[in-house]
Amino acid sequence: MDELREDTFVQDDLLEELQQEPGLRVNARAASQSERPSSGGRMSPQDLEEDGDGSGPSNVTRRTFIQGSVATGAAVSMAGGNLLQPDVLRAATEPVARTIALRVNGETHELDVEPMDTLAMVLRYGLDLTGTKLGCDRAECGACTVLIDDVPHYGCSILVHQVRGREVTTVEGLEQDGVLHPVQQAVLDEMGFQCAFCAPGFIMSMAGLVKANPNATRADAQKWLAGHICRCGDYNKILNTAERALENARAALS
Ligand code: FES
Ligand code: FES
Repeated sequence: MDELREDTFVQDDLLEELQQEPGLRVNARAASQSERPSSGGRMSPQDLEEDGDGSGPSNVTRRTFIQGSVATGAAVSMAGGNLLQPDVLRAATEPVARTIALRVNGETHELDVEPMDTLAMVLRYGLDLTGTKLGCDRAECGACTVLIDDVPHYGCSILVHQVRGREVTTVEGLEQDGVLHPVQQAVLDEMGFQCAFCAPGFIMSMAGLVKANPNATRADAQKWLAGHICRCGDYNKILNTAERALENARAALS
């Protein structure tokens, strides 16, 4: 957990460096469609190689991709920080083991993965854990949030290789022995979502909050959940749910 938190500071340094770059756009739209790979957000090692002026076939260089990722991530607020790391991007052009052991919801899975597979991709399409949603696939909406060592992270913006040796928890892993997690119970109590596409991401972040600070207030929850978007605009009920989840967690502890 500490290592993942330290990553945030690496990103801060990189952001400062990149902000010196002329023309860098620090806003949520920085990684425009024209700067993204054409293969649905997945990048090949070739995409990540520097091509000098950025005029290669995909028009994506490692630098423009990192700029887009950092700028996009700077526009949202997540508890743990969860962007693609420059060191990992550099390492991604080197050979890496295709077969990894991934810990998810208390089980170990042997998986054959690509170097650039994101955690969210592997969860959904490798393990069929489709509770983890993919909305933007670019660190904007929070739908893909999972816990890594109990800290919320965007699954779309972390490579699966980065979580080897970590404990990943998805929404499917919250219920224990037939007993709903305090956050799941709160969702039922408050009926806190409309279409609920955003729900798994919010729920996982709330689960991180009740673990980190069951005495958190509604205002604390509002800040904690700031990295999520609900397209139905159901924020008031979502915050009611967060408050109820905190109450449920405190009751379970007493
Ligand atoms: S799908 Fe990951 S933040 Fe939107
Ligand atoms: S309830 Fe529909 S996106 Fe949040």
